[in-house]
Amino acid sequence: MHVTVLSRSAAIFTTRRIVEAARARGHVARVVDPLQVEMRLGRAGPELFHRGAHFPATDVGVPRIAPSISQYGLAVVNHLQLLGLPVLNGAPAIGLARNKMRVLQLLSASGVKVPRTVMASEPSGLREMVRHVGGLPVLVKLLRGNERTGVIVCETRQALESALEAILRLGQNTMVQQYVRGRRGGDLRAFVVGGRAVAALRRRPRVGRLSRNLGQGARFERADLDPEAERAAVAAAAVIGLEVCAVDMLDAPGGARVFEVHSSPGIREAEEACGVDVAGAIVERAAELVGAPPVARGRGKGRKVARRPS
Ligand SMILES: Nc1ncnc2c1ncn2[C@@H]1O[C@H](COP(=O)(O)OP(=O)(O)OP(=O)(O)O)[C@@H](O)[C@H]1O
Ligand SMILES: [Mg+2]
Repeated sequence: MHVTVLSRSAAIFTTRRIVEAARARGHVARVVDPLQVEMRLGRAGPELFHRGAHFPATDVGVPRIAPSISQYGLAVVNHLQLLGLPVLNGAPAIGLARNKMRVLQLLSASGVKVPRTVMASEPSGLREMVRHVGGLPVLVKLLRGNERTGVIVCETRQALESALEAILRLGQNTMVQQYVRGRRGGDLRAFVVGGRAVAALRRRPRVGRLSRNLGQGARFERADLDPEAERAAVAAAAVIGLEVCAVDMLDAPGGARVFEVHSSPGIREAEEACGVDVAGAIVERAAELVGAPPVARGRGKGRKVARRPS
């Protein structure tokens, strides 16, 4: 099988691991920078080129599209899909995962537990909002376009009112969310590949911080998902339509609450903390979608998806 990873650089940990895992299983793998792909729509239908020349033979695409190049990157993924190639993940699902409000709406409508949330474009009806999310403290999440840009914990109504006024005056959308106290002081990140939870981490914030992001000094440990959290993660991936994703959950009493789904998750912490070959799971799922044997014998010819521009 020929695997093309769409990524800005072959040196990025997850990209490198996917290439290694593919080669270790006898497949041909390469990295193509989506910004160096040209798309053409003509009489021959959609065609793809790489730096003005043939697009490499490809049986399956693994997009790793950074949010900073979302628009062009997703157009390239779309083009691959138009050519009939399987991809993990598809462009519509990646785009959807980046729309934080839509994700929560869909999950909630599909019966996946999410933190109680209200969305508003003006601060009136504040009392009602606080009541709806179960009282103080609450989290105010700022949204710009499809990206989330920050989280504020509000312990008092006054803090909430002034936060909302300031944010909404800046013309930003916002959501107010129930502050869910996780059990055991951390939240959970489950990696779902092809409908299976393959690894899970517990993420603990640095003392005095809220963010459980690596960049903010959070710590990661291997976690065992209880069956209910596992079902929630797998269901969230299915609802958004993602073959590969990380599902962030708050490990709350009464059941895990999903608050975010990442369509191009970094796998380093999961591989290191859990000792799980997440890249291998991704490649094996890709092979299933292509219908290639799990361990290819020799190098297949691959499917050519593009011609040299005339
Ligand atoms: N409803 C909630 N209740 C309690 N804690 C929450 C809630 N939602 C999110 N958090 C915590 O706040 C942190 C930031 O929230 P979230 O991930 O939604 O925002 P973000 O903009 O993606 O920030 P980050 O880059 O830190 O992940 C998360 O690490 C999570 O642990
Ligand atoms: Mg987050």
